[in-house]
Amino acid sequence: MSDIEKKEINILSIESSCDETAAAVVVNGRNVRSNVISSQIDLHTLYGGVVPEIASRKHIEKINQVIETALSEAGMLLDDIDAIGVTYGPGLVGALLVGVAEAKAISYAAKIPLIGVHHIKGHICANYIENKELEPPFLCLVISGGHTHLVRVKDYLEYEVLGRTRDDAAGEAFDKVARAIGLGYPGGPKIEKEAKKGDPNAIRFPRAKVTGEPYDFSFSGLKSAVLNYMNGCKMKNEPYIEADIAASFQQAVCDILVGNAVRAIEEFQVEKFAIAGGVASNGAIRQAIREACEERNVHFYHPSPVFCTDNAAMIGVEAYYEYMAGVRSGLDLNAVPNLKLI
Ligand code: KG4
Ligand code: ZN
Repeated sequence: MSDIEKKEINILSIESSCDETAAAVVVNGRNVRSNVISSQIDLHTLYGGVVPEIASRKHIEKINQVIETALSEAGMLLDDIDAIGVTYGPGLVGALLVGVAEAKAISYAAKIPLIGVHHIKGHICANYIENKELEPPFLCLVISGGHTHLVRVKDYLEYEVLGRTRDDAAGEAFDKVARAIGLGYPGGPKIEKEAKKGDPNAIRFPRAKVTGEPYDFSFSGLKSAVLNYMNGCKMKNEPYIEADIAASFQQAVCDILVGNAVRAIEEFQVEKFAIAGGVASNGAIRQAIREACEERNVHFYHPSPVFCTDNAAMIGVEAYYEYMAGVRSGLDLNAVPNLKLI
């Protein structure tokens, strides 16, 4: 039976670019039959951040079991799978290699087509899972631990990067500020929780703009301002309130993100705006962008938190659209740690 006659296309997807070992089965690009995530966060928390060598070792221990569980939860065998999608970049090279080698081995042994997927495209595609009506064109703000990109999604496989961070990613800023305040890793959820107890207007941290690049971001000045504020208090022997720092920092991030989002919405006159990536699970950021969209009659989309942070279902969605367009990877597929979006 050809794919055109076949009603359902089943994608097995694999994600191992950072500290989650994940596999999923996605049907027709929108229906997630299983989404298994084995997180290493507890292990890396001991070191205050992701240790690449440990990440790779844990991926290799877990990956077979995670894939088996994804298949069995979906009620499928490898025979039912039409293609394997795997993240091949960007990410930690050793971590990526585990997923890529595994996908290649299954593809070769079971004669299933292989599709290498860009991790950031996967994050964007997470929006299709729960918003069945969402179709391009739309704008998407990708805010993760390693990336901050404002992307124009012109069509399913057509992405244009309007702006990116010049220094730290949004999630990286959360993680660094959390470490400075003593909240530990991963910083995002901890700052969000602490911020709920604080005053977002207590301290006026800078909202940097990149001259001449209206859609680019810069977070390193904000991070330094938080550190300077804390050092200043210590030198003057004045106490500082962690919750106020967390809330004021989070407010500055909201304002920076909303500023660029609004500029792009107005210039490109879009009807739809989406967010993606780990930081998109932050309630305050989500609310700020939602309000900015509603004021301009723009539909706002976001994935549930489980599809914001790293997962394999989002990789399966992008792989599906690539599969339908005839994209296939060879068995020479390699990990590309600094893979560009375009
Ligand atoms: O997308 P993701 O899981 O991995 C990357 O591709 O980088 O994002 C992880 C990042 C971390 O920096 C983490 O601190 C941040 O997302 N994050 C959050 C929240 N949950 C995760 N940042 C702010 N608020 C949150 N609730
Ligand atoms: Zn990610």
